[in-house]
Amino acid sequence: MNALVEQLRRSFPEYAPIVTHRGTTAIVLALDLERRRQGVGEAIVPSTVCPSVPLAITWSGMTPKFCDVDPETFLLSLDSVRAAVSPRTRAVVAVHLFGRQIDLAQLRKVVPPSVKIIEDAAQSAGSAFDPPAGDYVILSFSEKKVIPGRGGAVLCRSEQDENDLRALERVLPEPPPADVLGELASAFRDYTTGLHDLLRTQDLARGMPVFPAMAEHFRPLYVARYLPQAAQEEVTAEALRRAASLRAQRWQHYQAYAAHLSNEVGYVRFREGEMIWRLPVLLGSHRAQLLALTQVRRRGALISNHYFPVSWLYGDVSCQVARRIALGAINLWVDSKTNPALLPEICRDLNEIARSRDQTISLN
Ligand SMILES: Cc1ncc(COP(=O)(O)O)c(C=O)c1O
Repeated sequence: MNALVEQLRRSFPEYAPIVTHRGTTAIVLALDLERRRQGVGEAIVPSTVCPSVPLAITWSGMTPKFCDVDPETFLLSLDSVRAAVSPRTRAVVAVHLFGRQIDLAQLRKVVPPSVKIIEDAAQSAGSAFDPPAGDYVILSFSEKKVIPGRGGAVLCRSEQDENDLRALERVLPEPPPADVLGELASAFRDYTTGLHDLLRTQDLARGMPVFPAMAEHFRPLYVARYLPQAAQEEVTAEALRRAASLRAQRWQHYQAYAAHLSNEVGYVRFREGEMIWRLPVLLGSHRAQLLALTQVRRRGALISNHYFPVSWLYGDVSCQVARRIALGAINLWVDSKTNPALLPEICRDLNEIARSRDQTISLN
């Protein structure tokens, strides 16, 4: 058994791990298996999510059913899930967005027992808050998220699932060469961020159903067989072993922001033990969002507004909290790239921007 598989077994003792080309591939495999077992249908997914997640649903042969999110946590709204469930529902992709963990016990109460929960821990791996409880668990390893390395994993609960997932994984196409993968990855990033920025200039009043049409072009980037890379696997295994110290550093940065942000600034509250990816702050207008990006970058700190209301790229404009988040939210860094000396100044900027409420985003 290699070092990564061994560590995954140790970190997630209730599950059997299958290492994959990417986290997205892991979602495709779990849903492909469920499509074969239950028949074609829908997978519920939050509108505010990494753009490859609904594409994974499309690539598996299922249809994404978008749900709105909760403005306090940015996580799937349970009311929205309740309204979306139908006889065609096969699975819910339960995303622990930005490290804030969704309550799976509550989620289970609003979906029928036949609906599988795919717990997407790409942004929360290494948490000590609530142990994973999904029917499948998805991990993604990348310097840009929480646990570094390359690739991803799907964790499953039974030997049957493990054998079936391995059989599906084995027949995936080989990935393109590394240079082509790199080109595809930057094309995907430019394409999705460009389209979302364009939609923001129109206040997200209209959607643009381009994702179903372009899905096949980007499939080789995400749906491929895993080619083992021992050095990267060792990086991931080591990070999983050090999860407690990664978590502690992020928690410390989060607490420093929380101490300096005024009551007028709305931000996602985390619980101790969660592995925080980024700290989401919700400002009251798109103008405030752009102002925050400019001012914080001018101070030399990292910040982004990469909140993707992906449903818009499927032509669905119904999720109004996701729209408000896309127009008004920003991400603050809490990882090792955070400069603690800049935190008080960044918070002062945000406090000031939040105080000048010259525009607010309506929720109608
Ligand atoms: C919540 C979430 N799920 C899944 C993925 C996909 O992981 P990968 O980039 O390894 O394909 C991402 C990527 O950013 C993500 O943020």
